[in-house]
Amino acid sequence: MKWDINSWRNYPVKQQPIYPNRKDLDKVLSKLQKLPPLVFAGEVKELKKALVKVSQGEAFLLQGGDCAESFKNFGAVNIRDMFKILLQMAIVLTFAGGCPVVKIGRIAGQFAKPRTSDFEEIDGVQLPSYRGDIINDFKFEQKSRIPDPNRMIEAYYQSAATLNLLRGFAKGGLADLHEVHRWNLRFLKKNKLHKQYADMSEKISQALNFMEACGINTQNTPSLKEVSIYTSHEALLLPYEEALTRVDSLSGEIYDCSAHMLWIGERTRALDEAHVHFLSGVKNPLGVKMGANINAEDIIALANSLNPNNEEGKLNIIFRMGAEKIAHNLPKIFSKLKSEGLNLIYSIDPMHGNTTKVGNYKTREFDKITQEIKNFFEIAISEGVYAGGVHLEMTGQNVTECIGGACNITMRKLNKRYKTQCDPRLNADQALELAFLIADLLKRNREC
Ligand code: PEP
Ligand code: CO
Repeated sequence: MKWDINSWRNYPVKQQPIYPNRKDLDKVLSKLQKLPPLVFAGEVKELKKALVKVSQGEAFLLQGGDCAESFKNFGAVNIRDMFKILLQMAIVLTFAGGCPVVKIGRIAGQFAKPRTSDFEEIDGVQLPSYRGDIINDFKFEQKSRIPDPNRMIEAYYQSAATLNLLRGFAKGGLADLHEVHRWNLRFLKKNKLHKQYADMSEKISQALNFMEACGINTQNTPSLKEVSIYTSHEALLLPYEEALTRVDSLSGEIYDCSAHMLWIGERTRALDEAHVHFLSGVKNPLGVKMGANINAEDIIALANSLNPNNEEGKLNIIFRMGAEKIAHNLPKIFSKLKSEGLNLIYSIDPMHGNTTKVGNYKTREFDKITQEIKNFFEIAISEGVYAGGVHLEMTGQNVTECIGGACNITMRKLNKRYKTQCDPRLNADQALELAFLIADLLKRNREC
């Protein structure tokens, strides 16, 4: 079927809310259609160029952020701390791993959540599931769980304000490499990571001093004080994505202007359904999450549909199989894909295949997360494939949601600062620790 901005409506679609009032929904959608795009086609093209380097094995992709952003936790401090931890991780990867890092946040639009079950039960009371702040409210009461289209407008403005601050931070001085010392978040000082990070920043300072003496400084080399940070989210709520999809006046190409990059989740990636159809028509770089049941043929079919012209830097395959299953399933997938000549980026999401429950808390073990990443790199290296990126759920805050790491969060400590409205995130310490570990793997990856 021919693609049009609304032709996805002719396909089976999963994980969509049923709004009680059609007129309210239409009013919101026509308002969204008139609002300015959140990102510009030119920025998306820049990201695509950077991702071409990843696809050629010359850069690494770091994608991370909240499982779900919320209206309640929206504020400058959270945005700043997320920006900082992403940048700190990127510096570690760039410096220790020896390669440029493309930074994409799960931010400024990561609001809609796919759910395994349509209902949630607490103490014998059953209610419709929470589907993310763009759809309904987290509070466990009947009224809060009714989908409200006006939440899309709130999500839009929150995304706009978040993007505004991110753009300011990226170009306005906070990302100056001379500041790396100061980026040590307060609570890092207590542990061994603080020292590891401080040693690295010392070396960076020495390198900067040397360069300065050679005449290379922030005045004549803006890349020493500016970064590019891009936004992404799961393109789940299709009426919202449709309303923000625009024709670029310069090129005539179609872009989903709700974020620079969009991905399709594990639950909505069926080939003949609405999500794949919709995203096959936009020019943005795309991701697809792949669980343990995927095989090479499925990936090839998805690639033909989402990237029919086999463009470099366009399609990111994000595996999320779980620490054990990846060791068994991925080698044969890579081995088959290698001979297909497809331009794909391969990333690892070590979060979603490693979720467990401890009491009432959903959690993830740091060791399992690191194990899946190691397995991913080792399999890629032995199959001669480039391990192109990681996809993480993390926060710049000192939460206690994942077990383990140098900060030693135990099962009993989970309740201390368990703040997520959806999946458990790495805290800033755990995220930075992971970055040092990935940097070592990356070095090996690039030496191959
Ligand atoms: C997510 O990234 O938050 C998510 C729901 O992932 P997946 O589609 O891989 O389950
Ligand atoms: Co999640």
